[in-house]
Amino acid sequence: MISNQLTNKRVLLGVTGGIAAYKSAEICRRLQDEGAEVRTAMTAAAQEFITPLTLQALSKNPVHLDLLDPETESAMGHIELARWADLILIAPASANFISRLAQGRGDDLLTAICLAADCKVAIAPAMNRSMWEKEVTQKNLAQTKSVGISVFAPGEGEQACGETGVGRLLDVPDIILLACELFETGVLSGKKVVVTAGPTREAIDPIRYISNHSSGKQGYAIAEAAAEAGANVVLISGPTNLPKPDRAQLIKVESAGQMLDAVLDQVPGTDVFISVAAVADFKTKLTAPNKIKKNVNGNLTIELSRTPDILSEVTKIKGNHLFTVGFAAETENLLENANSKLKEKKLDMIVANDVSDSEIGFNSDLNEATVLTPKTSINLPKANKTQLARNLIEIISEQLAGFGTDARARS
Ligand code: C5P
Repeated sequence: MISNQLTNKRVLLGVTGGIAAYKSAEICRRLQDEGAEVRTAMTAAAQEFITPLTLQALSKNPVHLDLLDPETESAMGHIELARWADLILIAPASANFISRLAQGRGDDLLTAICLAADCKVAIAPAMNRSMWEKEVTQKNLAQTKSVGISVFAPGEGEQACGETGVGRLLDVPDIILLACELFETGVLSGKKVVVTAGPTREAIDPIRYISNHSSGKQGYAIAEAAAEAGANVVLISGPTNLPKPDRAQLIKVESAGQMLDAVLDQVPGTDVFISVAAVADFKTKLTAPNKIKKNVNGNLTIELSRTPDILSEVTKIKGNHLFTVGFAAETENLLENANSKLKEKKLDMIVANDVSDSEIGFNSDLNEATVLTPKTSINLPKANKTQLARNLIEIISEQLAGFGTDARARS
């Protein structure tokens, strides 16, 4: 059964030399089914049993084979691979590999990656029954366990060598289950979350525009926190100077009109829409095709018209299953204004923050907010925007739990 328990998780699948290496292709696919991004590394012996091409085609990434290959090392070296992974899963792990792992060797790519890793490491041993039973193998296993490596113990049964006993690679579904159990289930596992962030720019002419002070920091932090919680995140952002958040799909837009189109495109299949963007409320009625000269009879009057209200457009079409969250950046009567927006825009939740305090809000790294729903009010104390984003995602996921039923009762 697919549970998306590995959504946004990066798994480095290491394959060592043994007949069970052919099963690594299936392991790769089943990890992907659970939502994991998979890269692969093979020892020299593993390549005698299954070709790198198979794993390359399945993982859609080059297979890492050699510690001393300048080409692959310069693209993504062993240290970067170790940093990249959330889990290194060696399946199958041969007796020889386990012995080298226990000694802390780093004389080939896979052992060097394990030595450099701070992430979770798990091995699924597979070997002949008497190799498994040897005292030295059991000592090596005890040593690897003692340094925090998880061992997915082998199964019992008929072996490729014709003998019967313990040492068969654990069945693939059981390996996947144990890999999933190494991670806490994200509170938004498998959900699609769309976040808007940053300001929009409304062109006056090809050079000038109307915009605001939004930095995008809070929206980007929320996109990251949602991805951390296991969601598939689409971040629709106006112009900012921020790097693309890890593990989120980024769609860049300029104007409110473009942001609306991008959002409406994403609404089908979305579970949560978080509208953090400081969308410009006005645009010029007509955009000048050429730069407006400053010598036009002294003053310049520009006629403005309203931009679309993206959030309201979404709530108009959303149906019962999309949870919508708005932001109210206010300089006065914070809660009163936020409450009216909650009702007017027919939102499930609004996050009110006071942007008159320069220590919090727009360009600052700190924020403080009150989260309002039709039934509750929760204070999020002053914290950095990353922490506030995590707290907000926690609250959204709690609300989401009872959401389907509540929403249907309201309609
Ligand atoms: O009405 P006000 O602009 O204060 O509402 C703020 C909320 O509405 C924010 O969540 C913002 O992202 C959203 N909004 C929008 N489209 C607009 C203006 C605001 O989606 N044109």
